[in-house]
Amino acid sequence: MTTLLQHADYGHLLPAAHGLLEEHTDATKAHLIATGAAMEALAKKFGGDEQTWKVAGMLHDLDWDKLDKDYEAHCGDTLEHLLSTIGAPQELLGDIRAHYQHQYGAEYPLDTMLRKCLYCVDELTGFIIAVTLVRPSKKIADVEVKSVKKKLKDKGFAAQVDRSQIASCEELLRMPLDEFIQITLDAMKSVANDLGL
Ligand SMILES: [Fe+2]
Repeated sequence: MTTLLQHADYGHLLPAAHGLLEEHTDATKAHLIATGAAMEALAKKFGGDEQTWKVAGMLHDLDWDKLDKDYEAHCGDTLEHLLSTIGAPQELLGDIRAHYQHQYGAEYPLDTMLRKCLYCVDELTGFIIAVTLVRPSKKIADVEVKSVKKKLKDKGFAAQVDRSQIASCEELLRMPLDEFIQITLDAMKSVANDLGL
């Protein structure tokens, strides 16, 4: 049985998504740019709509810098309001809520390839940024798959990152972890300047 790629195409929102990042994000911006690039690369791999997947990646934590540590509110009213300002369809809200499975899993299951990819890659892009920042050069060009894997095994490093969510690529995407890291890392290297890394 094949899995639906995405519920709707909303790639036309890409320029508006860039505007929202500029206006509403701060510390989270690099993570969102990274996740947008990774989702675009994963769309290419799986045959999804590249711009739609990129928009989902770019906006999935749009509300994060406004939460004031109230993480229960993540993907709630603030996000819904921000998305309404660009006329985003309900499917985008659903795709974003699906990445926050412990809160929204029942209502928004991981039932498309887009949702599965976003769920798996979310923790990985943040982790790769953390790996880059402990390199002497702090340059993502110097990061390799094997250095990422080594740090994943070091449980004390970036301990808040859920390793099992990253590793679920094997089950959810039927993609080996090495390949998943390679695709994500290459995508992030392609936007190194925008990431400031
Ligand atoms: Fe995220």
